[in-house]
Amino acid sequence: MKFLTTPPIPSLITISSQLFSRGLLFPKKGFLLTYLIAMICILGTSGISLYFFLIKNLNQQLDRELLTLVQAAAPSLDSIKLEGHKNLDREVPWRNLFSQQEYSLEWYDSEGKLLAREGKNFPDAPLLATLKPSQVNQEFFMFQRLGQMQTVTISVYTDNPNQATPTLEGYIRASESTSEIEAILKKLRLGLGLGGASAIVLIGFGSIYLTQETLNPMKQGMNRIKKITCDVSHHLRTPLTRISIATEILLSKKDKIQPDEVKKLNIINTAADQLKKLVEEVLFLVRADIPSNVRERVSLNPLLQDLIEQFEPLAKAKGIDLRTQLSSRIFVKGDNVKLTRLFANLLENALQYTESGGRVFFSMRLSQGKVIISVQDTGMGITPEELPFIFQGFWRSELARSVYPEGFGLGLTTAYAIVQQHQGEITVDSHGKAGTSIKVKLPLA
Ligand SMILES: Nc1ncnc2c1ncn2[C@@H]1O[C@H](COP(=O)(O)OP(=O)(O)O)[C@@H](O)[C@H]1O
Ligand SMILES: [Mg+2]
Repeated sequence: MKFLTTPPIPSLITISSQLFSRGLLFPKKGFLLTYLIAMICILGTSGISLYFFLIKNLNQQLDRELLTLVQAAAPSLDSIKLEGHKNLDREVPWRNLFSQQEYSLEWYDSEGKLLAREGKNFPDAPLLATLKPSQVNQEFFMFQRLGQMQTVTISVYTDNPNQATPTLEGYIRASESTSEIEAILKKLRLGLGLGGASAIVLIGFGSIYLTQETLNPMKQGMNRIKKITCDVSHHLRTPLTRISIATEILLSKKDKIQPDEVKKLNIINTAADQLKKLVEEVLFLVRADIPSNVRERVSLNPLLQDLIEQFEPLAKAKGIDLRTQLSSRIFVKGDNVKLTRLFANLLENALQYTESGGRVFFSMRLSQGKVIISVQDTGMGITPEELPFIFQGFWRSELARSVYPEGFGLGLTTAYAIVQQHQGEITVDSHGKAGTSIKVKLPLA
C-alpha cells in the first residue's frame, strides 16, 4: 500500500483534542490549573521578593557596621605609622571585638604597604590590587565583596596648615566574613522552601475544593440541559415519524392527488426526514456526552471491517479509491456503538468532502501502548483558519455547505465527545487544499 501512508505534504497546522480538554470544553482541569498557576506565581514572586529584600537589608547592615568600624579606626593610623604595631593594644581599646566577631582591620601606609592588622580572617587580595587607578591619591570610601569577605576601605588624610591640600596618610580596610549572612540565608531558603511547599499543598487542596464547589452547580445545570435536550429530541421522533409515514401514504396514491400537491408533499417529506436526521444526531451527541458504564473489550478489526463494508458502496458511487490497512487482534475498552459512530463520522466526512477520483486511506497502527487509527483523504481540506472551529457544534465551512448541504456540523463534535470518553485523543492535520488527515489515539485494553 504505497499511497498516503504518510501525509503528502507536511502538515501546516494541527489541532488536537488535548488543547480543548485543557480549556473550554472541559473547564474543570483548566480552571484548576489556572488557579494553581496564579497562586504559585503569587507565592513565588512574594517569596523571591522577600528573599532579595532580606539579602539587601543584611548586606546594608553589614556595610554600615564595617563603615562605623573603619571610621572609628581612622585616628589610630597616625600613631601606628609613628610607633608601629606594638601600641595597637592601646590605640584600639575595642580590640576585644576581634576575638568575638568575624571582623578584621588592616592599616596601610600611603604606598599601600601593610602596617598592622587585627582580627582572624583577612581578604586574600592585596590592597593595591583592589584599588582603581583613579582612587589612588583620592579621598574615597569603597564597599567591596572579596571572595567570602565583605570589605570597606577608606583613605585617611590629615590637614596640614602649611599645604593647600590635605596629605594622604594611608588606607584602612575593615572586613567581615559573609559566612554568618550565608548561614542566615541558608536557613531563610529552607524556611521559604518548606513554607512555600506546604502553602502549595494547602492551596492545591483548597483549589480542588473551590473548583468543585464552583463547577458543581454549572455541571448540574449542564446535565439538566442535556436531559431536557435528550427528552425533547426523543419526543420529537414519534410525531416526525408519523408525518413521514402520513406523507409517504399520501404519496403512494399519487394518481389521486394533484401534481401541485405531490410537490408540496415531497417538500414536507424531505423536511421531516431532515428533522429526523437532526434529532438523531442531537440525540447521539447528547448521549455521547453522558459517560456510559459500558466498558466492554472491543475488537477493533471486525468493527472497522463492517464499517468499511458499509461505506464501500458510497465510495464506489463517488468514484473514490477507498483503501484500508487494518491490523487484527487489537482491543480497546469502550462502547461498541459509540466507537462505531466515531469512525463512521470520520469516514463519512472523508468521503463527503473528497471529489470523484480522490483517495481515502483508512489505517491502523500501534504506538507506545496505544492504537492510532487514521483517516486520510485527498479532499477539499480544512484551512488553518477553520481548524479551531471544527469541533464546535453546528459549525460548517462555506465550502462544506455547498458540497454537502444536508450536514448539520455535529459529526466531529460527537466524535470529539466519544474520544474524550474513551480517554483518547483526536488530532486533525490540515494540509491546506491537499486533503485532511484525522488521527484518533486510543489506549489499548
Ligand atoms: N475530511 C474533511 N475534509 C474537509 N473538511 C472537513 C473534513 N471533516 C470535517 N470537515 C469540516 O468540518 C466541518 C464539521 O464536520 P462535521 O462535524 O462532520 O459536520 P458536517 O459534516 O455535518 O458538516 C465540516 O463542515 C467541514 O467544514
Ligand atoms: Mg460530517
